[in-house]
Order: sequence, then C-alpha cells, then structure tokens
Amino acid sequence: MREITEGFTLDDDPSWYKDAIIYELHVRAFYDSNDDGIGDFGGLTEKLDYLQDLGVTAVWLLPFYPSPLKDDGYDIADYTNVHPSYGSLSDFKTFLREAHRRGIRVITELVLNHTSDQHAWFQRARRARPGSVWRDFYVWSDNPEKYKDARIIFKDFETSNWTWDPVANAYYWHRFYHHQPDLNFENPEVGRSLKSVVNFWLSMGVDGMRLDAIPYLYEREGTNCENLPETHQYLRTLRRQIDQRFRNRMLLAEANQWPEDAVAYFGNGDECQMAFHFPVMPRMFMALRMEDRFPIIDILAQTPHIPENCQWALFLRNHDELTLEMVTDEERDYMYRVYAHDPQMRINLGIRRRLASLLGKDWNRIELMNALLFSLPGTPVIYYGDEIGMGDNIYLGDRNSVRTPMQWSSDRNAGFSKASPHRLYLPTVIDPDSHYEAFNVEAQQNNPHSMLWWMKRLVAMRKRYKAFGRGTLEFLYPDNHRVLAFTRRYQDEVILVIANLSRFVQYASLDLSAFKGSAPIELFGRAEFPPISDSPYVLTLGPHSFYWFALTPVGAIFERSNSQRAPLQLAVSGHWSNVFSGRTRVTVEDSLAAYLQTRRWFGGKARQIKGTEFTEIVPIRWDSAETCITEVQVEYTEEDPERYLMPLSFASGERAEQIRESAPAAILAQLTVRKKDGEETGILYDAILDKDFGRALIDAIDRRRQLRGTAGDFVASFTRAMREIRSVPVTNLEVSTIRAEQSNSSFVYGDEFILKLFRRVDRGVNPDLEIGHFLTDRVPFQHTPPVAGTIEYRTKRGETASVGILQKYIHNEGDAWSQTLAPSRPIP
Ligand code: NOJ
Ligand code: CA
Repeated sequence: MREITEGFTLDDDPSWYKDAIIYELHVRAFYDSNDDGIGDFGGLTEKLDYLQDLGVTAVWLLPFYPSPLKDDGYDIADYTNVHPSYGSLSDFKTFLREAHRRGIRVITELVLNHTSDQHAWFQRARRARPGSVWRDFYVWSDNPEKYKDARIIFKDFETSNWTWDPVANAYYWHRFYHHQPDLNFENPEVGRSLKSVVNFWLSMGVDGMRLDAIPYLYEREGTNCENLPETHQYLRTLRRQIDQRFRNRMLLAEANQWPEDAVAYFGNGDECQMAFHFPVMPRMFMALRMEDRFPIIDILAQTPHIPENCQWALFLRNHDELTLEMVTDEERDYMYRVYAHDPQMRINLGIRRRLASLLGKDWNRIELMNALLFSLPGTPVIYYGDEIGMGDNIYLGDRNSVRTPMQWSSDRNAGFSKASPHRLYLPTVIDPDSHYEAFNVEAQQNNPHSMLWWMKRLVAMRKRYKAFGRGTLEFLYPDNHRVLAFTRRYQDEVILVIANLSRFVQYASLDLSAFKGSAPIELFGRAEFPPISDSPYVLTLGPHSFYWFALTPVGAIFERSNSQRAPLQLAVSGHWSNVFSGRTRVTVEDSLAAYLQTRRWFGGKARQIKGTEFTEIVPIRWDSAETCITEVQVEYTEEDPERYLMPLSFASGERAEQIRESAPAAILAQLTVRKKDGEETGILYDAILDKDFGRALIDAIDRRRQLRGTAGDFVASFTRAMREIRSVPVTNLEVSTIRAEQSNSSFVYGDEFILKLFRRVDRGVNPDLEIGHFLTDRVPFQHTPPVAGTIEYRTKRGETASVGILQKYIHNEGDAWSQTLAPSRPIP
C-alpha cells in the first residue's frame, strides 16, 4: 500500500471567487512555530486545519515579503521572496500546497503603486543619472509643487506627498509614508518588471492577488491623481497577460472610492474580477446605530450594476482603520461620536478598533452584522480573530491595535508563541473585558454555543446556497424602517433575509405576494412558517434578530434532504476524490440525507433531518484502489446529532457495471471524472462492497497504521491474539463481505477473521469492544472469538470512537456472530 500524500484539489471554476468565503490574516500574527515571537509560514501551515474547520474557502495573506516593516510589509524591499522572520520561499510553497490540499485558495498582496525606499530599485534610482531608465523607476521633481490636487492619505503622519532625497538631489513622490516612494508607471520598464512579479507568484500556484492602492498608479497635473484612464489601461494589459498564461486566477482591487469610481476597476469584465465595496461598510455600522435601514439601501441603490463575471468583496473590519473616507462630513462626525468617543480610537480618517469592540461585545449585534455581511451581494471577507470576538489595544500606535497575535488558548501568549512575552512582535490583548484567557479558539471550540461555532454554522449555511454569492438583490420596503428586508435569487433558489436593526422588538408586514403559495423555511432550524398568501406577511422580530428563509413552493419542503432519491449526477476534474471539495462537496452533502434513509443501519429514519455534512474524510489505498473513509454528521430538527461512517469509492467500467447489477442501492451518484486525456465515467458507491477496501483495512491493522484526518486520526492496531491466530500474511486471505446487517457492515477474511465496522460512530467506549477485549485478555472463555485488532477514531479534542473490531472467525452453522457475547443482531 502506498502512502497517501495528495488530498483534494480545487474546483476547476473560473468564477470560484463568487462562492468564496475569504479569511484575511497576517502570517506574523497567526502562529509562531519556532518560538521567536513572530508568526511564520510553518505556524500558519499547522493552523490550516483550523481554517478548514471554520469552513473558509480562501485565505488572503497580508504582505510577507522582505521589508523594513515600517508599514507592516506594505513597504516591500524584494517582491519575489519571503521575509526571513516568516520563513523561506520553500515554507511558503509548502503552505500553498497544504492549503490547496484542503480546498483553500490563496490570495496574496500585489503592491504595484510603491516600494520601500530600501528596495534595490530605489537605491539604484536615487544614484542613477537623471533622465535614465533606472532613475525614472520613481517619480522625481525639483520642487514639491507638482500635483497639488492630490490629497494626503496618511494625514496623521505626513504633511506632503513629496520628500526630499539628498542622494538624488530631488524630491520623490509618495502617496503613503515618505519611506514608500511611488513607482513611475510612465516608464514601461516598471510595468514590465511588475508583470514578471505577477508571473512569479501565479506560476507558483497563487490563486489571486489583491491590488493594493490601485487608484494611484499614474499622476496627471490638474487631477486628483486617482483613477486615471492610464491606470485602467495598465490593468487591462495585466489582466490580458494573466488570462493568456493562467486559469482560474483572480485580481481584487483595493480602491477606496465611491461606487461609480470603484466599479471602473471591473472595466468591461476585463480588469479586476473583484473589488472591495468600501462605502457600504461604514453604512452598515451607521444603519445599526441609527436603527434605520436607509444608509444601506441608499448606498446600494447608488451602486451601478457590475459585469457578469465580477463580484464585490464585502468586509466589516480589516487590518487598517475602519475608514471613513467614503462618507460625508456629517456622517463621519456621527461615526466618530458613536463608535470612537475616545480620541485614542481615531487615526487618519478612521477608527482603529476591532469588530467586537466597536459593537460593545454585544453578541446579538455582532451576529446581526455578520449575517448582513454574509447575505448582502458580494463575497464576505472575515478578518482573523473576529470569528472569536477578539479585542484590540488602541494604545499600540498606528494600526497595531487590530494587529495583535491570534488568540489560540489561555496559555502564555494566548497560545500564539512560546517565546518570552516581551519578545512578541506585538503584545497580546489582556484588557479584562477582552482578555485572551476568555476569548480564544480553544475555549470556544469546546463550547458549541460560542461565537466560533456560530460563525462555523453561518459559513456552512452560506455555502449551501449559491444565491448568496450569485443571486440578484431586491429590497422589500416594509413600513417599519427599522427592518431591512431583501431577497436574493439564483436559479431555483430564493432566499429572504429580514434583519431587525433595532434594540427592541419590531414587527414587519411584508408584501410577499410574488411568492404566493410558498412556505418560508427558516434555514438554520428548518422550521416551516405558514404559507404565503395575497395578504401581507406579518413577522415579529426580537431585538437585533435576523432571519434567513428559503422560499420554497409548498410540497417541495425539505427538498434538499428528505426527498425521494433522484440519481445524482456529478462531474469533477482530476481525481474522483474531488467530489469532497468545493461546490461538489456541498451537492453530495445535500444528497446524503436521502441516501441514508435507504440504509438499514441508519437509525434516524423516523426523524426530520436538518442537514448532513462530512466531518472527516480520510483516504486509504490498497494497490491502486482508493477509498475515502468519511464520517457524516446528521443534524436533526429535534434530536441530538448523530455521526455515521461512510466509506466511499469510485468505480468505472466493468466493476461499475457489476455494482449496478448486484447492489444498485449502494450507489450514491453517477460520477464523471475529467482528466487531461479524456473522461472516465463511473459511480460513487458504498465501499463496504469493495474487497480492496477490506484488504486496506486489515493491512492497516496488521501494520498498526495511523491515518491522519483533519479533525482526528483513524488508529488501527492489533492484539497478541492476532499474531497467535494468523497463519498466512493477512492480506493474502480471501476477502468477502457480509451485507444486510442492521447496524454494522462486515468483511470476512478467509476462514480466519471477521472485521465488523460500526456504522454509527459514537464517541466513547463501545460495549462490544470492551467486552471482547476483556474476555480475550483476561478470561479464557473459549466461546468468545478473541479480539484480534481494532480501528478507532481519535479526535484532536481527545475523544475516541470505535470504528471497527477484528475477531477470530468462528464457524457455527455458517453464523459467526451467534458465537460472540454481544450477538445483538443476527444476520438474516
Ligand atoms: C492599503 C493597505 O491596506 C494599508 O495597510 C497600507 O498602509 C497602504 N495601502 C499603503 O500600502
Ligand atoms: Ca516564528
């Protein structure tokens, strides 16, 4: 058996960013793997399981290049390397590979506008002959009078966009800090050099790039030097070049502009695929505080349509101050008054606080704002730490208040680093009301009612409906202006979102007559509401509550989970196990409920299923045959969730035909696998039919293998008894399967062993196994088949579950189980 190295690859979908959930982080702030007080790529790679568990589909990395770090890395000294504090290029590549293996895409920073003054280009330019190509890499002037109409962005730190350089004997132009000279895009050499930077990272496999400070590439006298046509021209060429060489890549514009200027960065669908919607962000905060939907509706009404292949990026907070550049003076005063009463909270034209602090740690408000972030048109971007309600430290200077170490546990340094607390790149948050001892991942993972778990559910729910990422937006206008209501529609999906912006209970009377005959189903609890008629639909809303409803025609209720099973048709690229990644995974998960209903061993037949999802997927191979051992979690509307073991394999050709004839009910889906050299059509089916899978399992026991998963490990082991019993190499034994059992599925190996796989994966001690062990080890009880081996699932949280038990096969009129002490379910 070969070792498993590869995992799942990414959906071959050029518009993946529309369904994405992006997680923004700085490598130095995430996890320190070598105890020097600075987060690094080794640490980030270790924490990828966390991100996968959270459910995000893309990571946006803040700049990690060599840099004097005077602007947290946005002052780049070398575009094609990694800052030594964060690791090496090879560490980055490992991270990228591991992220992709988990179905997570990676977005990096492309800072085109400026470099650090320490960049070799600038050092060469200041010494080069005026007028030469090298000199002209930057923008020079004899006097600081040019381009007077350009505003100063870092107004708390800089008084001019020009700084004198005594080496060059000239002023150089900069839109940000004076140590960040702007590159000169009039010089074609600059454009070319930056295109090779783009090639460097995209060839490595980076999926997207955020274009920092993109409006400022060109300068023109008499303009504000923002959004100039030349800048758009450059972007179009860059995009064309990327499209010619690469597939499925994305450019994300950071243009802090009014909607009509920001949409220009989409061009005609030929510039950036994405752009941040800056103006909507402060208006969400305003609407919440004013308890009035107007600011949100107003700004979205002013937002022009965008090309089909484009998408907004939405965010509540990021690594910068909460910018108030895109609001009026009165609105800014209001925002300062209500969200930054202490002047220490203010910086430049904005507020340096984190989400939880801004919202006074009021979980209802935090949930409401996240629910809006996840349901308004665009792709949501989560800022690291906000998923656990992390606090800030407004006394740290610049924007460091919101850049402190990620809080993993209540250990020293919040579990971020084992270094001396004095050595950390920034101190952890220890203010009593947001101390990391209370707000950390470990504490929240252990509490299913925590904010982290709430976020996980929100993320998972969004992934189930394409309408959130791709649907149209239509506002409803109930008389009560404190209630924001809108629908999102995509193909046959209609989602109704209703949010109460007020601190108090409100009602809303909605005109839903367009959906007459539908019965709204609340998405999280799957509760069915009364059907919609011609009369107004009246709802009561608790303080700051929000609802997401699916508007489904009556009769098609629970359409996704409990319907009759129609043959599911799937297609993936590369390897069949890609059914477990991206959109296909969601489709498979949605179909599991209907499949499970047909299985004898499924215990939840009489219950209302709310949802099903894979909580673990671990590949195991025998020869060239591969099975994925999966654990499926079934959520019910009323009862506690249950977990089931579902090994799945792919077969094509003759083998697929055999299964179609002999065991059609074991087929989960028709599956086409697209490969470079053509297509392979086959089936996805229950691997308990698979002798190769049976061999892989006994081999795992024989070799005491540990199969690593994301949430835990499958640990196989054998007992002394196995050695005593076995006569030939176990993998040589003839394998047969026993089906038709009530709660288990078994493999029989020659005349020697029987391996019973438990379908329900209950955490804790398995009585069959305990008794078997006891009798094997302690009691010479000859009527008990000795336990020869076990397979356990051990979660990272320290729970165990029995998955399989291998016993001596004892003939007794053809029935092995009548010999065991726990013969609960005889084989019919
Ligand atoms: C925008 C970035 O978000 C910010 O952090 C940075 O300081 C400026 N661009 C300059 O690069
Ligand atoms: Ca480190």
